[in-house]
Amino acid sequence: MKTITISEVEDYDGEEVTIKGWLYNRRSSGGIQFIQIRDGTGIIQGVLKEDSVGNELFEKTLDLKRESSLLVRGTVKEDERAPIGYELEVSGVEVQHSVQDDFPITPKEHGPGFLMDNRHLWIRAKGAAPVLRIRHELLQALRDFFDEKGLVATEGPILTGVSVEGTTTLFETDYFGEEAYLTQSSQLYLEATAAALDEVYWIGPVFRAEKSKTRKHLTEFWMAEAELSWVEHEENLDFQEDMVHYVVKRVANERWDELTRLDVAPESLIEMVEKPFPRITYKEAVEIVNEAGEEMEYGEDFGAPAEAALGDHFKKPVFIEAFPRELKPFYMEPMPGDERVYAADLIAPDGYGELIGGSQRIDDLDLLKQRLDEEGLPHEPYEWYLDLRRYGSVPHSGFGLGVERTIAWICGLDHVRETIPFPRQINRIYP
Ligand code: 4AD
Ligand code: MG
Repeated sequence: MKTITISEVEDYDGEEVTIKGWLYNRRSSGGIQFIQIRDGTGIIQGVLKEDSVGNELFEKTLDLKRESSLLVRGTVKEDERAPIGYELEVSGVEVQHSVQDDFPITPKEHGPGFLMDNRHLWIRAKGAAPVLRIRHELLQALRDFFDEKGLVATEGPILTGVSVEGTTTLFETDYFGEEAYLTQSSQLYLEATAAALDEVYWIGPVFRAEKSKTRKHLTEFWMAEAELSWVEHEENLDFQEDMVHYVVKRVANERWDELTRLDVAPESLIEMVEKPFPRITYKEAVEIVNEAGEEMEYGEDFGAPAEAALGDHFKKPVFIEAFPRELKPFYMEPMPGDERVYAADLIAPDGYGELIGGSQRIDDLDLLKQRLDEEGLPHEPYEWYLDLRRYGSVPHSGFGLGVERTIAWICGLDHVRETIPFPRQINRIYP
């Protein structure tokens, strides 16, 4: 007899199979029991009739607590009323581990604090597996996109001596008596590898000591970063647009069932990422935000309500470019003749905020030194970075996509903490 996963049942209609899984839930009425069996691929309902399975097996399963691990034997039956279109007519149950205590997470509502304390168990709940499978697909889609474009996968260090995105969110650590930081972004190192390999990417964890406790911030999150030699601002945006279009469409098509289980319509995601994405200046964005009734001044950063207003206005991802220099880090290339820089943020629809931050980088040595000075940053730890402007400097651009925000948007989740198996937030390092 074949052992199959729940996602494979449609190929075994009418056949007797074994499913290895966990008891997700159960209800019984009289001489009939319905057991929900969960494996990593889905949930199927098993039906046990006392008449046909006998009293001993019937009583045994009646005592099982939720999340007991089982090998369930049964015949696959097509059933229109079942959520996945099939049921299992159970003929045998082998108990691998019989749970003694009640499983803490029940299908009823729990508060977020309780769920977060039990995150190691909460990831077994109905909604979590689809999200984590979508995360897998998104990361794979990003890698495939970069690979198809000919970028080379490379890495920057996690322990560094430099700040990338400002000094206020650095995690400091003692490095054998020297001060070191957990990286905020691999960008500076990718600029170095891009000069060796032309076009490079990296997908990995980055760290920000974010004091803000919002639904968009984690202290450890994943970034997909690319750095492109000889590429200037406009081409950088074209690349990002192609990427977001590709990865979202791919997730929608490949994870259709998972999205549907999360009440997300994959068709509407595909429609939302139709190219081109609007490109507006920071100034135009400020006007749109004010017209929508959210007051803000030129020169301020977009807060959550402003980002939501922009999302509502365009109903698809929108690039905001030409930011005032003061709003952005030291390394961004100035636009000719004014105080703005070749930066662009990609803002998501539906209030999910900034998905991508990117820019063209300064390639002139003197200008870069001047910008470090203006930001009060010492030259010494950046000497290697300045070297890139001393030896064969070229125009180059890049960006970083926030993986968790992108998943939250795709899955329609309330909070980025649900997009990663073990989220790290201010005041939380357990489990
Ligand atoms: O805009 P950011 O800060 O850009 C950089 O770090 C650049 N050095 C990237 C580059 O050009 N290579 O961060 C990039 C993205 C943001 O747009 C956002 O989606 C996400 O990372 N992000 C966060 N996600 C979760 N929690 C946080 N605390 C985040 N901070 C930024
Ligand atoms: Mg940013």
